[in-house]
Amino acid sequence: MEPFEYWNGQLHAEGVALSEIARCVGTPCYVYSRAAIEAAWRDVDAAFGARDHLVCFAVKANSNLAVLGMLARLGSGFDIVSGGELERVLRAGGDPGRVVFSGVGKTADEMRRALQLGIHCFNVESLPELEQLDRVAGAVGIRAPVSVRVNPDVDARTHPYIATGLKESKFGVAMSEALEAYRVAAASSHLRVVGVDCHIGSQLTETAPFVDAAKRIMGLVGNLASNGIELRHIDLGGGLGIRYRDEAPPSRAEYVSALMRAVDDAGGGRLRILVEPGRAIVGNAGVLLSRVQYLKHGESRNFAVVDAAMNDLIRPALYSAWHEVVPVSPRTTEARIYDVVGPVCETGDFLARERALRLEAGDLIALRSAGAYGSSMSSGYNTRPRCPEVVVDGARFHITRRRETLDELLSLETVLPDR
Ligand code: LLP
Repeated sequence: MEPFEYWNGQLHAEGVALSEIARCVGTPCYVYSRAAIEAAWRDVDAAFGARDHLVCFAVKANSNLAVLGMLARLGSGFDIVSGGELERVLRAGGDPGRVVFSGVGKTADEMRRALQLGIHCFNVESLPELEQLDRVAGAVGIRAPVSVRVNPDVDARTHPYIATGLKESKFGVAMSEALEAYRVAAASSHLRVVGVDCHIGSQLTETAPFVDAAKRIMGLVGNLASNGIELRHIDLGGGLGIRYRDEAPPSRAEYVSALMRAVDDAGGGRLRILVEPGRAIVGNAGVLLSRVQYLKHGESRNFAVVDAAMNDLIRPALYSAWHEVVPVSPRTTEARIYDVVGPVCETGDFLARERALRLEAGDLIALRSAGAYGSSMSSGYNTRPRCPEVVVDGARFHITRRRETLDELLSLETVLPDR
């Protein structure tokens, strides 16, 4: 199934013309396909077959309540990195018992709330964090389920900002210190060792680094067992890449089979496998819809100035990410080479560069593969209200986040009183 296709010369999301959404909701606007998101989640889940597993959607990739709610109804677990994301999961109807809590800087308050809600596991990233969790759990009187996030030191061969599994990254506990961390955890009466965790990076387009990491972690699992520490689960993080341009990542099923094989071949057949996919569930299921304001034909470059900007989609500016730009109603006029830029006052405010496009002012365009780390990374920079999000469900669509108003954007601020 293709969630975004042309029918009668008009780009549609499932059964709804994007021009219709633009007419009702305005631009810029994120549009997601419900069917595509659900199919992707089911794909990952089904690939595990009868094997014990839990798919924990990485909330940071797309934290819209409607998206989380759809996944909660499918029985998804969730990978969170803040107390805010935990509240989102609850409001979306997610089960806290299926939540894993990652991140290097959990506060005592966040730990307390998560403990009281009975989350599945804390993925602990350092000894000081383990000690703080021990104190908080002792004070609350609830034994905290823990995994140690181990840094397996494998090269994910992805953008340096989103590679997390190398020794020099801030994430996780070094392999050489993992046994000690587990000894501390196992000795505490406030902590319950339940698993092991790793996450080596994002937008990986090969299975080899995942398999390497899984094997190294399984080595640790064996070592722990011989030290009397038995685990129940192995969490292999997220990271499966998608196609933005011409990448050829493994399919979701190939990725899952490779993980299962790596764990089972290393004697981990009785361990439950957790995964934390984000991008691979929502990335290709969303577009950012925008309207061309002006065409500016310069001496050396042509610019299509559109009404979306880096505050709406920061990936091109931050990672030089490539998003396909397509017209909503294609023209037959001659193509020109454009840089697609927004109104923000920064040279880095571009959404796409050097694209052959047939455009007129007023045309609608869609930036594809914007369902992951698009809206969730957006901001109000340049005092631009955050844009709406729409979920298309067959022939209907729902506004699942309305456009922020300027009053809302400014409502937390005041000027100083007179002296
Ligand atoms: N688990 C942990 C602990 C993570 O840190 C991440 C992503 C995930 C799971 C989900 O990874 P995914 O399956 O989505 O690759 N903003 C960047 C991506 C940052 C990823 C951070 N961690 C981007 O726009 O490409």
